[in-house]
Amino acid sequence: MTAVGLGKIILLGEHAVVYGYPALAAALDRGVTIAAVPTPAGGSLRIDIPAWSLKVSATDDHPVARSLCAIADELGIGRPTVTLVGDAQIPPGAGLGSSAALAVAVTRALLLHDRRKADRAVVARAADASEMLMHGRSSGVDVALAIAGGVGVFRKATGLRSFKSQPLRVLVGPSGAPRSTAAMVDRVAHETHEVVDDARLRELGGLTDTGTTALLASDLVGLGAAMNRAHQILAGLGVSTEQLDALCEAARVTGAHGAKLTGAGGGGAVIAIAPRDREQAVLSEWKKAGVTGFVATIGGGVS
Ligand code: PMV
Repeated sequence: MTAVGLGKIILLGEHAVVYGYPALAAALDRGVTIAAVPTPAGGSLRIDIPAWSLKVSATDDHPVARSLCAIADELGIGRPTVTLVGDAQIPPGAGLGSSAALAVAVTRALLLHDRRKADRAVVARAADASEMLMHGRSSGVDVALAIAGGVGVFRKATGLRSFKSQPLRVLVGPSGAPRSTAAMVDRVAHETHEVVDDARLRELGGLTDTGTTALLASDLVGLGAAMNRAHQILAGLGVSTEQLDALCEAARVTGAHGAKLTGAGGGGAVIAIAPRDREQAVLSEWKKAGVTGFVATIGGGVS
């Protein structure tokens, strides 16, 4: 049996969410799948995801090995002689929630293998332990969506509040530039002096509210405008790059309603929403810039 963890995008509110503001986020219709199979020759817990060229044993000195151990420890299962064989439909390290998707899929696969119920709270605790190792301070939005799917507003204090929306097509452009979530979170902390009432963080939080209302009303022009402004603020906080700015601008001049970086920034991915008849033109502009984007459909129900 295969276990799944979904990738995610943050439509609005990244970084501000770390300071308690709301973020509008959605699971992607793709992520990481894992099956646990007995390791033929015995030996330690290991993981093999050819799509990411990842082959690691729990005893290795590797971040994914430490994450595997953190999950196994949280589940109290020692080191089973199991190989976790996986596939991934999202790139790693691109701000699309790959590490949370991996942690959730691994946790679910280990629970399945142990014939234990994949209780949401248990999965969340184990995946959070892994995310803590990977990213340090994190809001928990990636794990919440990797587990629950759907679309919703996430707050650190109250978790994910899912809601129904019309399915929304979002263009996703993984820039290919590596980045570190922890470094970007630190940059914003430095920039804002961690003052929760910082005007830029407050505006980002307000844009989440405006954008959520627009999404619920299927007002793509309003949602796009909120995304454009959010990108501007995030750039001012120092988490955009010339490449991300250029990809967003290319989407806008090609007819997108809005475009922004998604996730921590400093590299990673951009997202855009565009009229249906402009989508391919945006994707081909990105392609000219060396980025292979895709269209993800988000929302459409509550899990
Ligand atoms: O780029 P990602 O997927 O790691 O997203 C990070 C989102 C932040 O708001 C910057 C941090 C967080 O934990 O919410």
